[in-house]
Amino acid sequence: MGVSDSFEFILPSRIKYGIGVIEHLGDELRALGASRAMVVTDRGVIRAGVCDRVSGLLRASGFHCVVYDGVEPNPKDYNVEEAAEEARKYGADCLVAVGGGSPIDAAKAVCVLAKQGGRAKDYSGRGKVNGECLPFIAVPTTAGTGSEVTFSSVITDTEENFKFTIKSPAVAAKTALVDPELTLTVPPGVTASTGVDALTHAIEGYTANVTEPIAEALGLYAVELISKNIREAVANGRNLEARAGMMLGSLLAGLCFSHSDVASVHCMAEALGGMYDAPHGLCNAILLPYVMEYNLPDAEYKYARIARAMDIEERDDSKAAVLCIEAVKDISRDIGLPGFDSLGVKEGDFEILSEMSERNLSTASNPRPIDRAGYLALFKKASGR
Ligand SMILES: [Fe+2]
Repeated sequence: MGVSDSFEFILPSRIKYGIGVIEHLGDELRALGASRAMVVTDRGVIRAGVCDRVSGLLRASGFHCVVYDGVEPNPKDYNVEEAAEEARKYGADCLVAVGGGSPIDAAKAVCVLAKQGGRAKDYSGRGKVNGECLPFIAVPTTAGTGSEVTFSSVITDTEENFKFTIKSPAVAAKTALVDPELTLTVPPGVTASTGVDALTHAIEGYTANVTEPIAEALGLYAVELISKNIREAVANGRNLEARAGMMLGSLLAGLCFSHSDVASVHCMAEALGGMYDAPHGLCNAILLPYVMEYNLPDAEYKYARIARAMDIEERDDSKAAVLCIEAVKDISRDIGLPGFDSLGVKEGDFEILSEMSERNLSTASNPRPIDRAGYLALFKKASGR
């Protein structure tokens, strides 16, 4: 995109970022005019004690609240339909989503279904949400998905084992309370995989063919923050400075791709997530360098700029672009992420996974055109088969 081209930048979410901002939750709910909150979360967040803290803050601020903690990883259609039913029965006038991408993505679908009814997949696609939604506040507890500021909710259709996306500014959080302190107890493996998810958002959002200048600026700064802090955040989770660098990087990466798109890494990761219930961040981490190698002929200049954001001093663009891909591989290796074999994917499923990847809306946004055969070649390459 050139400097004379037109673009729009919509940000329906108010962002409050900083250490301790979770303490503002009561004030933020009051500002929305809410009085009965349903917390949407998962059992991992309950075990980590973060949900107790949030419920305690709500009650101390005079709110009635109930907790729905049934969100599963790769949130399922029946999770959000059940949660919407609970929200209706309880008479919730707002949601508070607490967790990683799964509870926050789930809450986006619940806020539509609780008001408008129907099945989650009725709203699949871009701009299918019209009418009123419940307001919600997003409280991320991992530095990865950026879901607190995106307009997308990725839900698994359990009849077809396929992930679909509800994409509309109408499902965005009204407020994102982004507090790095909440990530201090995230275990190293989750810090690693969610961190590379954020890096993937930044790289795909920056290089997608639908990007625009604000998204590009956000993506490059996100790359800088994430590449500088990810190793320390994984090795020493109590380091608040590194955690804050990751949280801010993840937030900026989320803003980047929500104003651009993700691309083929996510198309493949979502196919794996839908079919194998494979961890999203790990799938991205495994696939990212292979997709970058494929995209290199059409993304060299941008990969060179990403390399510079990663502190790689190489003036020649074609060399810097190759070094960028190597640096991405180094990150995954240094933070101990496993390879493709850890996903347990059967070679016989590569065809259907390629077909699902091609069907993903974001295939059209990949910087280099790709079809089913291209995806099949990438699955084979990533698997070493
Ligand atoms: Fe992602």
